[in-house]
Amino acid sequence: MRVLLIGSGGREHALAWKIAASPLLTRLYAAPGNPGIGREAELVSLDIADHTAVARFCTEKKIDLVVVGPEGPLVAGIADDLRAENIRVFGPSRAAARLEGSKGFTKDLCAKYAIPTAAYGRFGDLASAGAYVEKMGAPIVIKADGLAAGKGVTVAMNLAEALAALDACFDGSFGQAGAEVVVEEFLTGEEASFFCLCDGVTALPFGTAQDHKRLSDGDVGPNTGGMGAYSPAPVMTPEMIDRTMREIVEPTMRGMAELGAPFSGVLFAGLMISDSGPKLIEYNTRFGDPECQVLMMRLKDDLLVLLNAAADGQLAHTSVRWRNEAALTVVMAARGYPGTPEKGSVIRGVEQAAGDGVEIFHAGTAIDSGALVANGGRVLGVTATGGTVGEAQRRAYAALDRIDWPQGFCRRDIGWQAVAREQAR
Ligand code: AMP
Ligand code: GLY
Repeated sequence: MRVLLIGSGGREHALAWKIAASPLLTRLYAAPGNPGIGREAELVSLDIADHTAVARFCTEKKIDLVVVGPEGPLVAGIADDLRAENIRVFGPSRAAARLEGSKGFTKDLCAKYAIPTAAYGRFGDLASAGAYVEKMGAPIVIKADGLAAGKGVTVAMNLAEALAALDACFDGSFGQAGAEVVVEEFLTGEEASFFCLCDGVTALPFGTAQDHKRLSDGDVGPNTGGMGAYSPAPVMTPEMIDRTMREIVEPTMRGMAELGAPFSGVLFAGLMISDSGPKLIEYNTRFGDPECQVLMMRLKDDLLVLLNAAADGQLAHTSVRWRNEAALTVVMAARGYPGTPEKGSVIRGVEQAAGDGVEIFHAGTAIDSGALVANGGRVLGVTATGGTVGEAQRRAYAALDRIDWPQGFCRRDIGWQAVAREQAR
């Protein structure tokens, strides 16, 4: 098979690494990719926003499957535009990607199908949103409706913070994404990420993870795209997975089909596991990053077989096997992240740090005069497996400490909840 992978982050490096291991693969291209992905794939400098150019490339190179990593192109309709040219795609249509592209759309779907989630209101102006916030009181959660690169959510612990967040949305801080706002009830419990592969009809559970969204040790500081993750998530017991499928994912699949927008691709449910069971915080319509890195390290089966089954509507006849090991990723970020990261500092020792159950996935890297340099906020994902989360954690940090990059930083406590649980046993 000839495959084109779209994207350039740690998620896409992990996908490229796993796709490259498939006996079905004859040729892997990646656009735009990064130097790590370049070890697994031929990099092509396509403008991925130009869907006509991507389709032309696929036709010329006889691509059998396009795998879309990030949400931006999906929400922009790349899957529809490629399918219109008879090109097979793993990823949802524009209409189905609204599950990530519009928080209000997803909340309305939850209301219609009685899917457990936070109570909410949708607002298009400051006055009515402000009145609702004052009526509900704090703590309360303010979300820009559209895609805001993970920055559109404020968990406000008091009214002043909530009103300031509303001001920011309606001031245009998030552009068009903030023109509409969702205000939500504050949920409590333990968060987990739950993934399904979907083919429009069937959703196949595809692993669990926990992410560390906050910048600093002890889960404090600003929100980021994710500073580390581990899999599996201990709160996602087989019973909790069954309930999540029945109460959240299956009604969503039914609802999307009834709307004429059947969902195919990766459905990533951000969950709050509350005393009364799983509640949906949000959907993403792609793999999480860094969650994808830990999932790919644990996946025993051939990823291409699974992606083909999803693209062809064959998931009802498919199963997934996982290694009986934990995996953990520590993100190394460039100084300045999540604000403006410093670019261009030289990173040494990456190749030597990998090996023996440790993979180092590239995110924001580049090659400059033959040297590997930082070229983004999140730069490397140091990922290790182990018999326990604790063992995976030790191996990940041992590898990370062999990397010579003074301008990089990381959290030192990724996996702490799971490690504490293991030690208490
Ligand atoms: P999101 O971008 O929707 O995943 O939100 C970012 C983070 O904000 C989530 O991972 C949660 O930690 C938090 N969050 C979002 N919605 C809620 C909610 N309704 N109640 C409590 N925390 C929330
Ligand atoms: N790590 C969270 C996300 O990819 O959305």
